Amino acid sequence: MNVAVIGCGYVGLSSGAVLASMGHSVVCADKDRAVVESLRSGRVHIPEPGLQDLVASGTASGGLRFTTSAREAVGNAAVVLVCTGTPSGPGGHADLSQVYSAYEEICAVREERAPGLVVATKSTIPPGTTLRLRTAFAGKGLSICSNPEFLREGSAVRDCIRPDRIVIGSDDPAATQALTSLYSAFRSPVFVVSPTEAELIKYASNAFLALKVSFINEMAELCEALGADVTRIAAGAGADPRIGGSFLEAGIGFGGPCLPKDLAALIAAGGDCGVDMAILRQALARNTRQRERSLERVRAALGGFSGRKVAVWGVTFKEGSGDTRQSPSLDFAQRIARLGGEVICYDPALTPECNGGPQLETAGMAVCDDKYEAVAGADALLVLTGWDEFRWADWPRVRGLMRGGLVFDGRNVLPVDLLRHIGFEYMGIGCGVAASQGGV
Ligand code: UGA
Repeated sequence: MNVAVIGCGYVGLSSGAVLASMGHSVVCADKDRAVVESLRSGRVHIPEPGLQDLVASGTASGGLRFTTSAREAVGNAAVVLVCTGTPSGPGGHADLSQVYSAYEEICAVREERAPGLVVATKSTIPPGTTLRLRTAFAGKGLSICSNPEFLREGSAVRDCIRPDRIVIGSDDPAATQALTSLYSAFRSPVFVVSPTEAELIKYASNAFLALKVSFINEMAELCEALGADVTRIAAGAGADPRIGGSFLEAGIGFGGPCLPKDLAALIAAGGDCGVDMAILRQALARNTRQRERSLERVRAALGGFSGRKVAVWGVTFKEGSGDTRQSPSLDFAQRIARLGGEVICYDPALTPECNGGPQLETAGMAVCDDKYEAVAGADALLVLTGWDEFRWADWPRVRGLMRGGLVFDGRNVLPVDLLRHIGFEYMGIGCGVAASQGGV
């Protein structure tokens, strides 16, 4: 099937490359000339495992092409997938300008073709958007549907190849048929629902994940008060399949380009309909409180940040991703710098020269590309993103390099017993056991 993909971000590029690998002929369009030129020359701007290889093989076989021209992409397509960004806009509402502008471009090409082109939005769009798009672009010969994407950063290709579910928001049998055959090689359950229901499934999924994280973070605070260990509570409660153990890792809060903005957008969408999304508002509030409370615990343990050297391991919004957008870890580090601390960051996904490195230096923080160098002479070490390599660090060496002995484990990933054994003052999230033993 001839497929056009509009937008070469995480969703567009991963989906396009995977669909090409399944035998479809895919043309991906992006307005950013530099991105398209880079992709044409085989350089993938998104550091996702497996994506580079998939793009290389798709390009070599001719099944995957890149263009800055929507006309070229849409010209021969049977299905168009809109994968543009939907950032947070005023009042938490999703900013849909990129989505609308993609539809305008498609319509401009449409006028030269026969009616019935299936256009499905994969971007996360608020409930009711597909119906509004249909009104805005009525009479243009488009069959507009919703087809949300559920991939995660860090496993985008794997999630695209083996999705948990495929959601098709369509009430046009011909469009449903086209999208079903587009995904016929995938062995995943397919849900055909109304466009608004499809949009709601996407928001409900992200909101529920955010709720789970906020719930366990609230339990973590209670564990600290009661002298209990939240990781044991998560393991015990999560063993019930009705609850499930994933997304029950307590930490300094959730972040990234999706969960916070989608939660805000769903709250705003509820408000537009006169529905108070009270649980979701509390989840957002808990997320803010979690970060502030954690920062305060570290500040109190250090007796203030002024004149203190603080090493930070991990600034991306989660392990396995090079993305620092809405990163709780980056925000945490920046706040310490603003409060007078000397902050030195290390993250395996960043280097001083590229990715988020320059951004950190502008914010008054130093960036190291060696984790041991980062801790030299530090009063405290803060582990804020749960990269695996932190657990397996040479801890006696770290102890020897640091001036002070405080380790704050903002993701509960470190070997607590070992750290205490070699003389660190260990502070985790929801580790009330430490409090009952006289720790911090
Ligand atoms: C999220 C969803 O998981 C995807 O299904 C969805 O497709 C995507 O948003 C999207 O809408 O595009 P992603 O943003 O890649 O994916 O990140 P997550 O893996 O969901 O993690 C979000 C945040 O929650 C991270 O900051 C992570 O550290 C935090 N988290 C996650 C916790 O604090 N505890 C947990 O137990 C799990």
